[in-house]
Amino acid sequence: MGVRATVKDRVLSGMQPSGALHIGNWMGALDNWVQIQDVFDSYFMVADYHSLTTGYHDTRDLPQKVLDMVIDWLAAGLDPERSIIFRQSMVPEHAELHLLLSMITPLGWLERVPSYKEKLKELAQRDIHTYGFLGYPVLQSADIVLYQADKVPVGQDQVPHVELTREIVRRFNGLYGEVLVEPEAVLTEARVLPGLDGKKMSKSYGNTLSLGESQDSVKQKIRTMVTDPARIRRQDPGHPEVCPVFSLHKVFSDPKTVQEIEESCRQAAIGCVDCKSLLASAINVKLDPIRERRLMWQSQPERVEEILHEGARSAAELAHGTLNAVKDAMHLKPQPLNGNSW
Ligand code: TRP
Ligand code: SF4
Repeated sequence: MGVRATVKDRVLSGMQPSGALHIGNWMGALDNWVQIQDVFDSYFMVADYHSLTTGYHDTRDLPQKVLDMVIDWLAAGLDPERSIIFRQSMVPEHAELHLLLSMITPLGWLERVPSYKEKLKELAQRDIHTYGFLGYPVLQSADIVLYQADKVPVGQDQVPHVELTREIVRRFNGLYGEVLVEPEAVLTEARVLPGLDGKKMSKSYGNTLSLGESQDSVKQKIRTMVTDPARIRRQDPGHPEVCPVFSLHKVFSDPKTVQEIEESCRQAAIGCVDCKSLLASAINVKLDPIRERRLMWQSQPERVEEILHEGARSAAELAHGTLNAVKDAMHLKPQPLNGNSW
């Protein structure tokens, strides 16, 4: 398996289909994907199977969520000419490799993954004491090794999953021979954006700005944003380091503006109203091209579906080869490439 036609390292990453994205998703992960798509041989996956581990109760809105998220990927600049964009459930090899890897993964390894106990607690009201939820990182391992990915760009919370993948790979290769590639996590620069209320920006807190937010809505929402709580009157000096408006300036405004705001805030030379209006303009300038592309993709959902079909076809080609090498190494019967009708 070692020799490969391409020179570039291969990258695979995934996101659960949460529907339309917010600027925190964009700056936290998506923009990084857009930047690296030329540097690596890139595979970006809609992890719809993973979304079932916590959301199996009602799956009716899944198709819409997948579509909305992929539209935002494309709007943000992921380019199907330069990377493979696909949906996990359209490539059946993920399910089959998951099964095979599950045979060699000790329960203890899964129970020890930090996100397991955390999520059980966090989502205590949903019943996720399921086989599938425990196996979440095995499925993720299958995603990664199917494409023999060298690198997996992820946030800090996902690093234990990549570590587990490495352990599963070593175990597999030890048992059956050197077939699988050991991947490496590449930490995406931790850029957690504050939401309108100052807490971490998150859909579940309802404190987000979406990628498709209109210009007026951006202005209006930023106007309601919390600021330095100690700055009550206009003449009170502010503390930008505790102000969520300032944190967003650091992401969206140019360095010179950021420095000016920092100084004038401390001297009470700028008021929060003006500071926020500068921020809204900076965000709007960055969102303008995205909004435009988003409208374009929204008007042609069939084209988006086609991109997912083409992506699945390319992904399956590679995935099929790996799966057959795995089955061969395990003395199982390989399969001809016929099942995939995309
Ligand atoms: N678990 C990841 C998350 O929630 C999504 C994901 C699924 C993923 N499969 C993957 C990420 C493979 C990287 C590689 O963010
Ligand atoms: Fe925050 Fe800006 Fe007001 Fe300073 S001037 S407290 S940075 S909103």
